Amino acid sequence: MNSPIDATATSAWAELEAHQRDFAPDLRGWFAADAGRVGRMSLPLGDLHVDLSKNLVTDEVIASLVKLADETGVLTRYQAMLAGEHINTTEDRAVLHTALRRPADATPELVVDGQNIDEDVQEVLGRVNEFADRVRSGEWTGVTGKRVETIVNIGIGGSDLGPVMVYEALEPYANAGISARFVSNIDPTDMGQKVKGLDPETTLFIVASKTFTTLETLTNARLARAWLWEQLAEAGVDVSDDDKRADAVAHHFVAVSTALDKVEAFGIDPTNAFGFWDWVGGRYSVDSAIGLSLAIALGPDVFGELLDGFHTVDRHVAETPLEQNVPVLMGLLNIWYVNFLGAQSHAVLPYAQQLHRFPAYLQQLTMESNGKSVRWDGSPVTTETGEIFWGEPGTNGQHAFYQLIHQGTTLIPADFIAVVNPAYELKDGDQDVHALFLANFLAQTKALAFGKTAEEVEEEGTTGALVAARTFAGNKPTTSIFAPSLTPAVLGQLIALYEHITFTQGVIWGVNSFDQWGVELGKQLAVQIAPAVEGDQWAFAAQDASTQSLIEYYQAHRN
Ligand code: F6P
Repeated sequence: MNSPIDATATSAWAELEAHQRDFAPDLRGWFAADAGRVGRMSLPLGDLHVDLSKNLVTDEVIASLVKLADETGVLTRYQAMLAGEHINTTEDRAVLHTALRRPADATPELVVDGQNIDEDVQEVLGRVNEFADRVRSGEWTGVTGKRVETIVNIGIGGSDLGPVMVYEALEPYANAGISARFVSNIDPTDMGQKVKGLDPETTLFIVASKTFTTLETLTNARLARAWLWEQLAEAGVDVSDDDKRADAVAHHFVAVSTALDKVEAFGIDPTNAFGFWDWVGGRYSVDSAIGLSLAIALGPDVFGELLDGFHTVDRHVAETPLEQNVPVLMGLLNIWYVNFLGAQSHAVLPYAQQLHRFPAYLQQLTMESNGKSVRWDGSPVTTETGEIFWGEPGTNGQHAFYQLIHQGTTLIPADFIAVVNPAYELKDGDQDVHALFLANFLAQTKALAFGKTAEEVEEEGTTGALVAARTFAGNKPTTSIFAPSLTPAVLGQLIALYEHITFTQGVIWGVNSFDQWGVELGKQLAVQIAPAVEGDQWAFAAQDASTQSLIEYYQAHRN
């Protein structure tokens, strides 16, 4: 196993520390003195226009950051990932989500560990698309012969966040009269709310779980199965014996998993199961068969365009020099903010309502990937890692937390994402409402960058203590990502952009961005504590005093 290069021991790191020592951010001054700044720092990425100019960097800082990527071998490791090396060291696995979006005719074929990856991917994709077409056309029916009108994806984490985020983003493309719902939480309220009003005869459940062992998903799958049988019986459908119940499951349940044996044990016909591979991490899996709900609701063509969008960015990373390589540069900017300017979080603020689940999706992608304190060889990290990603769509966030970004004491770099053309064109009289919306995006990035001085506040007639309260310091860094419209390809490009930003940061920090051991302890303890909650005295006695006290509260208040 190659040990990671310690970024803090590179000459680029020393340069960055020197920049940091006398760093005086001055976006007003930099813009005034340098007419070429915006042009130099605005880069294309597929259909995206990425404006980095309002970041707190000089050309010298960028040069040192690029040198850091070079010295830590970011692109060498990217090539190792593409080639199928086992860069997921703790699980001894290849990391090949990029293979999921290679075109069918990509050459040379990708063969890893003796397996033709391209053939495997195309075979499953073909089955996914064929099944999606059957459901969309009405050829696939429920047990009483009715066509499917609603699909319910049951999954959690990567088996939920990607599908629901993409579905919400591309909902205008849903054109087959099939809507999708997503159940993830083991709180029974989630299932209760999502099946409310559904017709069991026209509902298809997709159980999506990479491992097919996840407590939440398997519990919810059983809840859904019980609901189906009960509701069919209420509708007068005969489900009185095991064969009839199995027939109902065969018509109303399909699965996506890497563990097809477990799918069969659950009672789902393996011919209605769609596989993927251990080299696809859960949070990198929306472009695998985990996207089945998308292929059905939005159609195989839309799903294909989404995959093409991912691939565009994969190629950009592989083929573009570091100085122009947008995902690498954005990852480097994050390193600058976290490791040199003390930022602890990063806001993602989509000015596109359809992207309202994008920040939630990015939370898993970024934080489950880089929230690590050991490096890929087991040694401790040498610097801060893993900032907190968060956000809400604009303009909603403006009326909630932007105050802290503008005038708080914490540095919060923010990505603004906007599209020129909305999915729904609505006018308020003569007013183009979307233009008004986008004016807010432009206004916020401008206010954050350039602020408002005390003199400017006073010129408006403000005096006394109010002057300070109304002053904006500016120099709050933002990146603006603009696209013509939110097409499937643009969405694929956006997701891949953040995958590779995450990758870049992970390499520089030396962490394995593809495992998630930090989620295991809580899962194990939940299994141990569950009997105590339900009254088992032995399990109760094994708990600490606080947990016991909380269980007693639960038991005292349970109806
Ligand atoms: O708990 C973390 C996790 O393993 C995620 O990485 C994953 O996306 C999620 O659980 C769901 O896992 P599965 O798809 O195996 O049900």
